[in-house]
Amino acid sequence: MEQVIAQASVLSQHLWWQHGVIYQIYPRSFQDSNDDGVGDLPGIISRLDYLQWLGVDCVWLSPVFSSPMADFGYDISDYQGIHPLFGTMDDFDELLKEVHNRGMKLLLDLVPNHTSDQHPWFLESKSSRDNPKRDWYIWHDGKNDGGLPNNWLSVFGGHAWEWDDTTQQYYYHAFLKEQPDLNWRNPEVQEAMMNVMRFWLDKGIDGFRVDVMWHMIKDAQLRDNPPFPGSTYDANDLIYDHYTPVYSTDQPEVHDIVRMMRAVTDEYDERVLIGEIYLPIHKLVTYYGQDNKGAHLPFNFQLLTLPWDAPQIAMAIDEYEGALPENGWPNWVLGNHDKPRISSRVGRAQAKVAALMLLTLRGTPTIYYGDEIGMRDVPIPMNEIVDPQGLNMPDLNVSRDPSRTPMQWSSDINAGFSGHKPWLRLPINSGRVNVDRQKDNEYSKLSFYRKLIRLRKEHAALNIGDYRPIYADQQLISYIREWGDEQFLIILNLSHRPAYFKPRQESFTGTILLGTEVERIGMIAEDIITLGGDEGLLIQLSNTK
Ligand code: GLC
Repeated sequence: MEQVIAQASVLSQHLWWQHGVIYQIYPRSFQDSNDDGVGDLPGIISRLDYLQWLGVDCVWLSPVFSSPMADFGYDISDYQGIHPLFGTMDDFDELLKEVHNRGMKLLLDLVPNHTSDQHPWFLESKSSRDNPKRDWYIWHDGKNDGGLPNNWLSVFGGHAWEWDDTTQQYYYHAFLKEQPDLNWRNPEVQEAMMNVMRFWLDKGIDGFRVDVMWHMIKDAQLRDNPPFPGSTYDANDLIYDHYTPVYSTDQPEVHDIVRMMRAVTDEYDERVLIGEIYLPIHKLVTYYGQDNKGAHLPFNFQLLTLPWDAPQIAMAIDEYEGALPENGWPNWVLGNHDKPRISSRVGRAQAKVAALMLLTLRGTPTIYYGDEIGMRDVPIPMNEIVDPQGLNMPDLNVSRDPSRTPMQWSSDINAGFSGHKPWLRLPINSGRVNVDRQKDNEYSKLSFYRKLIRLRKEHAALNIGDYRPIYADQQLISYIREWGDEQFLIILNLSHRPAYFKPRQESFTGTILLGTEVERIGMIAEDIITLGGDEGLLIQLSNTK
């Protein structure tokens, strides 16, 4: 009892986004309610009980706004409108109410770097050189010989500059030409986007995940990006990764913008600002901002980007812990709608180990929908690819469709996602790999995720507790989470072969609370612990201080 009260009191000193678990929904693929093959808001509402049962605290929705869907909603034509595919504003209000009724939080995607080329702002901007909105976007003359303003490339392949015949200038687009970049040096743009934020915050949403935060400001002189060191690039390739985007991203002035966004967020109680940022750790942590007045959580994508290799992961965790600013809150992400699914990247067997890591490292975890049932990347035949990234670079196999397929709910037709053929196909085994089949199966991934989430809630040490690395070798990593009298030892075998946990300095005794092998639960673990391949253990230590 005392423990429970103490626990409640320590949690109350932390904000919900520090001890909670975030769950990302890709709305097109979660649940279809009107049988058009695309997920929607009423569909999400109908699945909130599932999310509550799973135990997640917060739902983040990828964009549901008005959009021509050139980039599936990341090209917005009205920041304050809901796309009819997803439903109406009433549906949104209902969703927000239902999320809150369940004691959960709702985050929206904010896409401030670019709009759709169909957004009225851009239509005005491109109408003439002296239109008042001309400077809302990044327009530039060609170089003397009429060539491109510089060598910047689009993330989706090809040049990042598009010629406009009417006004005889180029405009910049970091992504598709249908996604012109806003000019964030213009105070009117800043004001307009702050008002978009206020519109949704006034409705009561709990915060934003800010799309491509590190792209928002570009070099004022538009200098050329240098080639990526050592890349065997061919100037005709036009492949983004062949250059280092030192001038087109992560400019010092971006921090003023982030600070501005944070100030708006802080006009409201307990809202959170999350930034999507793909940068090395030492740069990533600068997005916490001076005096922690930047993003609350600059998304930490190391588990998505690093090779699944014990020494590298152990080092990265420690580097991250060491680089965090004082009072900067950590976070971890294992999957999202842009990257291969964890179960495909590290394999089915390692997926539980990865989940154990995500949910026991210090910091806010974000779960990508479907990872909790071990959904894998679905092979999408070439002629069914719809993702522009995949279509633009057909030889690179970089389509994001495979990790955006419909949620597998049941063995029913279309896995219970829709009565209609879904917008992306399901895997052949969806009759077997689904929520219904796993719900009451204690050996399933879903049960594992649910137990882990519950344990995090029950033990402060596991969510807000301190982190201490213990031992790592070529195969495994291990660490302790502790708070008050409680200590937990987590040992993760990242290899397929048996491994020995044999730290030199300390010895440990405890009870296995949870493991990737259900049979281990309740067993006593002592000193040298032998782990099977792909095994992970969560041990409550008894030889505590
Ligand atoms: C972000 C989104 C991605 C989108 C891109 C352009 O990286 O996560 O899905 O394509 O921004 O908006």
